[in-house]
Amino acid sequence: MKRIEEVADLKGVRVLVRASLNVPIEEGVVRNDFRLQKMLPTLTLLSEAGAHTIIIGHVGRDKDRSLSPVHRVLSTFMNVSFIEQVVGSVVIHAIENMQDGDSIMLENLRQKEGEVSNSEAFAKELASYADIYVNDAFPVCHREHASIVGVPKLLPAYAGIQLSREVAELSNARNPQHPSLFILGGAKFETKKPLLRKLLDVYDSVFVGGALANDFFKAKGYEVGNSIISPGMFGLEDLIDNPKIMLPRDVVVERDGVVSTKSPDQVKRDEMIVDAGPDTVAMLGERICDSKYILWNGPLGYYDKGYDTATVAFAKEFAACPAYTIVGGGDTIASIAGLGLEEKISFISSGGGALLQFLDAGTLPGIEALEESAH
Ligand code: 3PG
Repeated sequence: MKRIEEVADLKGVRVLVRASLNVPIEEGVVRNDFRLQKMLPTLTLLSEAGAHTIIIGHVGRDKDRSLSPVHRVLSTFMNVSFIEQVVGSVVIHAIENMQDGDSIMLENLRQKEGEVSNSEAFAKELASYADIYVNDAFPVCHREHASIVGVPKLLPAYAGIQLSREVAELSNARNPQHPSLFILGGAKFETKKPLLRKLLDVYDSVFVGGALANDFFKAKGYEVGNSIISPGMFGLEDLIDNPKIMLPRDVVVERDGVVSTKSPDQVKRDEMIVDAGPDTVAMLGERICDSKYILWNGPLGYYDKGYDTATVAFAKEFAACPAYTIVGGGDTIASIAGLGLEEKISFISSGGGALLQFLDAGTLPGIEALEESAH
């Protein structure tokens, strides 16, 4: 992968930047600008070097969504105009009128069918706007979309600063320093189970929490009541006695809106496991003190239902720990950000699905496209 920092002279060069603009928006307001802040080093470098920067990206999955609220936030950090089109004469005219150092942002790529279908014609149209292409959208690199894998076939392609950092940090996370600890929570069974097997080979210990732990309890033959479990086969039987795996020591259960804490083998048929208990947080707190490298993905409880007590309590200990700490996943990051502890973490990945896929495979379609790009 060539990096954008390697390009010596960017003055007057038209640069198409595939950005990571998919941020949570509620009632027209951006709720979290973490991904936008991570774009700033690349966008500032291009602007200061005198490039003509054309920012492209998507938001949501609905074709009617606009990037306008995202532009409003980005323009509080930098000078950037918004063009309410993805293709056509308005876009071409705006690009022709750019001065050195200017930046413009186009409308949501997913308004055009050719983005998700990876149409060659659409990739050609995007490529026609620029002299070179930069991908700084790690969270979308697992998607074989036109702006991710199509355009780099057509233009000299470079990795942006955040993308390069993600690849370096997460490559280390696949080969951690020892003693190492991997904490895996949340649900997303289909992606997380293969990842668990993969990282069990390289991490010294793995704590399984969140809904994933319920599958282990079920595999051990415990009653899990109404708790969330995998929809299909459990396929964990061979792992239940694996000495590297740790499970919650105590769980918080809910029944008719009333919560209580108990041992995982005491759950009743009409109860639902909704969080890890305080003993579990204490156990993890001790374990992180013995680790040099810790990777954490996924909340410890049923976050979407508001059960974040264990996640938040653990986030404080995690941030205070002297180990090299890596974290990823929307809910996990939200807990850390809610406590204002981002600066205490060694590296926060901006990826969701892309992070899990990279940790499993060690590469992604968008990264391969950069590696294969003809210069
Ligand atoms: C993300 O936000 O994680 C990426 O932008 C991917 O979005 P998608 O799941 O809608 O493709």
